Amino acid sequence: MFPKILVPLDFSNYSGRCLEYVKELIDCGCKILEIVLLHVVDDRIVKFTEEMFKDTIDDRSVVEACRQTASQKLSEMENKFVNANLKVRTMVRLGIPFSTILKVAEEVQASLIILGHRRHNLASELLGSVTEKVSRKAKVPVLLIR
Ligand SMILES: Nc1ncnc2c1ncn2[C@@H]1O[C@H](COP(=O)(O)OP(=O)(O)OP(=O)(O)O)[C@@H](O)[C@H]1O
Ligand SMILES: [Mg+2]
Repeated sequence: MFPKILVPLDFSNYSGRCLEYVKELIDCGCKILEIVLLHVVDDRIVKFTEEMFKDTIDDRSVVEACRQTASQKLSEMENKFVNANLKVRTMVRLGIPFSTILKVAEEVQASLIILGHRRHNLASELLGSVTEKVSRKAKVPVLLIR
């Protein structure tokens, strides 16, 4: 029913919960051919960090460090699906998280996007900013995991 699922992950507690939910969908017979695990390295945070530490680090080292850490974490997550009969793709992109998620969803032709509700419990009645924008603007169904 949802052949290709895009799972954007910010590595918060909700990330683990989203992956558990994908497994539950597989276990109850949902036909999933491919999942795409995506982390967006926030361009604004990179620029801020570069500015703060401009005398001690060079531009590339911030982006590269973020990319490397994210790739490693995504590989660990990918391993959780070794026994599931589906293709797993990992992607790390640099950009603004909400717009990059929407762009990747179109690029990979995702049929569903699964997002965590929020990173933390503060003001938990509110949606996080990424969740709010993606669920308002996405052209495909969005599932929020609480
Ligand atoms: N940088 C990112 N890369 C990939 N997915 C992300 C990223 N940031 C957020 N997400 C996705 O959006 C979900 C909710 O995050 P969101 O940013 O909306 O909440 P928050 O961090 O609590 O709020 P805010 O960032 O507004 O303080 C995450 O669980 C994840 O699925
Ligand atoms: Mg966030």
